[in-house]
Amino acid sequence: MSADRKGGSANRMFATANAAGPQGVDTMSTTEGVGSSPIISSTKDIYTILRLLMLKSVRPEALVDNPFKMIGKDWMLVTACTRKIDEDGNVINGRANTMTASWGGVGILWNKPVATIYLRPTRYTKEIIDQTDEFSLTVLPEKYRNALNYCGSHSGRDEDKFRAAKLTLDFMNDVPWVKEGRVVLFCRKLYAQEMDPNSFTDEKICNQNYRKNDFHTMYIAEITKVLMETRDTK
Ligand SMILES: Cc1cc2nc3c(=O)[nH]c(=O)nc-3n(C[C@H](O)[C@H](O)[C@H](O)COP(=O)(O)O)c2cc1C
Repeated sequence: MSADRKGGSANRMFATANAAGPQGVDTMSTTEGVGSSPIISSTKDIYTILRLLMLKSVRPEALVDNPFKMIGKDWMLVTACTRKIDEDGNVINGRANTMTASWGGVGILWNKPVATIYLRPTRYTKEIIDQTDEFSLTVLPEKYRNALNYCGSHSGRDEDKFRAAKLTLDFMNDVPWVKEGRVVLFCRKLYAQEMDPNSFTDEKICNQNYRKNDFHTMYIAEITKVLMETRDTK
């Protein structure tokens, strides 16, 4: 079978799975924005496709994960991509990067579902997020712990971390995300503010965390879409 035919059949598989989505779950197309046609060439590809079949779009309230565990223990990947607008007004995606984060939150603000992340000034990911409005937060199954450690200890300034950590980058409506995720939050930046040393009401926290004056910037972002694995395979 040609590569094209294989890609076509994988796309049909997506369509079938979407049509048969469980009740109460928003309709979602796993193919929506899943840019490249999936070509099955290895066991890893098959595994990734099966995982994608299990990802459904749900409302933020349907998220079953405990946020303390999901962010603080499982950790998440913050993924963003530089973007340019060409002379004809077309959006051109540039370089994507991802980094591990374990400080953050989810909740409600300004009557919107929001996610909050905190980035130190040295992070390449911060440089990208400062230039773009959108990013994603991806929570991976436990078997990707090494990949998370890698993305939390190497900078995308120096290398392609997706390749090094064997993670698959994809785009949903131009927003980059990591295909191996079991939960993905797509976020649109609403507010960014660097922490102010004068605003700490407990000085100890400031002294312990910011000896180099490398204060986090807090980003509050609207959660515009949630993908959640419908069967827990952790
Ligand atoms: C478990 C873990 C959690 C982390 N959480 C954060 C975080 O919340 N904010 C942050 O700025 N850096 C955090 N880091 C550090 C960044 O992931 C790390 O500096 C990374 O190399 C930055 O990559 P970049 O330069 O490609 O953006 C964390 C690292 C690990 C291993």
